[in-house]
Amino acid sequence: MENFLDDFNEFFWDNNDAILQNIAEDLRSCMPVDAMLESEHRAIEKMKQKPEPTIHVDAFLYSDDIVDALCEEGKMSRHYCVSCGSHQIAPLAFLSHSFSRVELKFLYQHVLPDLTGKILIDTGSRLGAVIFGGYLYSSAAQLQGVEINADFCRLQEMILRKYHFADRIQVIQADVCTQASFLQAADVVVLNNVFEYFLEEAEQCRAWIYINSNVRKRGTFLVTVPSLEESLHRLQTGIDLSQWVKEIQLDYNVYLGKETDEDALSHIHLYQVL
Ligand SMILES: C[S@@+](CC[C@H](N)C(=O)[O-])C[C@H]1O[C@@H](n2cnc3c(N)ncnc32)[C@H](O)[C@@H]1O
Repeated sequence: MENFLDDFNEFFWDNNDAILQNIAEDLRSCMPVDAMLESEHRAIEKMKQKPEPTIHVDAFLYSDDIVDALCEEGKMSRHYCVSCGSHQIAPLAFLSHSFSRVELKFLYQHVLPDLTGKILIDTGSRLGAVIFGGYLYSSAAQLQGVEINADFCRLQEMILRKYHFADRIQVIQADVCTQASFLQAADVVVLNNVFEYFLEEAEQCRAWIYINSNVRKRGTFLVTVPSLEESLHRLQTGIDLSQWVKEIQLDYNVYLGKETDEDALSHIHLYQVL
């Protein structure tokens, strides 16, 4: 049975998966285990305010198998002790700041249409998971990563050079709220938890209003985590979603290999500008 499952899962594995895995290994060797950088002062402060004990596990860098291995070695834990010294333990909340490799396959093979000749922009491109995944799993003409943190831009540039991706990928170190012309030209805009953990509420409002004003081209796709409704309901932006976009229902019941996690996929939402 185990052999059969191995063969079955191999069916979902190809050369592009192997390249993406190599990229993750390269980046893992440059990052601390929590994949947070010292230059992310604000995000680190915001994380400390979270009520429930949470650990960062970057899902692009760490597959479930690697997390299990690190837990066995005692380098990571899925639980915390609720009363020190006792056996009373509770599961830790896991937070990833990147899409996992399975989520990237879902995005490019099941969520988005054929991207031949299209421009995709990832707002807050961090480690580059979305643009590298787009290079390997789609025919998009241009994949643009806009990231405010200079250290993350340097890491993305390192991968671009090593894997010769510069013909279709561009990394821009900037606040996305200064990039009107890129946003206006894009055919797909990806917004994966981009502002919530990194900006104060007033700045989040400003950023969403900027996105709303500049992503206006009819038919442009927005890929968001969480839903736009969830991101905006706490904020006073005045954005009327019903006048801006329509949501396209996705089928999350797909198998993409043994790491498929339907719950994680169900956080991905797709919209189209009206
Ligand atoms: C959750 S990560 C998203 C990672 C990546 N898009 C993915 O899906 O794998 C959000 C990133 O957005 C960046 N960011 C936050 N506010 C930004 C802004 N105004 N302009 C550009 N990048 C921003 C943060 O530095 C962080 O690296």
